[in-house]
Amino acid sequence: MTNILKIAAVAASLAFLGVAPALADGDAAAGKAAFNQCKACHQVGPEAKNGVGPTLNGIVGRKAGEAAGYNYSDANKASGITWDEANLKEYLTDPKAKVPGTKMIFPGIKREKQLEDLIAYLKEIKADGSGV
Ligand code: HEC
Repeated sequence: MTNILKIAAVAASLAFLGVAPALADGDAAAGKAAFNQCKACHQVGPEAKNGVGPTLNGIVGRKAGEAAGYNYSDANKASGITWDEANLKEYLTDPKAKVPGTKMIFPGIKREKQLEDLIAYLKEIKADGSGV
């Protein structure tokens, strides 16, 4: 009997874990607000231009160092990174730890939820700048 209860408890917690990733998905609307802290240096949208930092249209899935006409650091260009969600999370948590020598001067976002929201927003922005 106790074994059955244990199995039931394990099954219940597994079912919970199965649901958890969906709950953890970022909220793009909240991410848009979080992007305000990037705007001093980065533009997105159809009219986006390189500024202190490169344009971030279509950044999710883009290779590091590919915004046309932007003068990247050697560290960025040599990083070999493709900006998937995992890499973006690490970079945005602590840019200098992920890419030593990067010229992105940003302390990093430490709140997991805010990171997820931000990445959900960035995912919606296509290479042509639609979705902002
Ligand atoms: C103070 C200016 C500044 C702020 C604020 C800033 N960045 Fe950057 N960012 C840069 C610079 C400069 C680079 C170019 C890095 C290099 O060449 O080493 C960069 C590079 C990047 C890259 C790599 C782009 C590529 O094409 O390889 C990503 C992704 C990025 N920033 C995202 C963000 C996000 C998201 C935020 C807001 C949370 C943010 N940055 C805030 C200046 C900034």
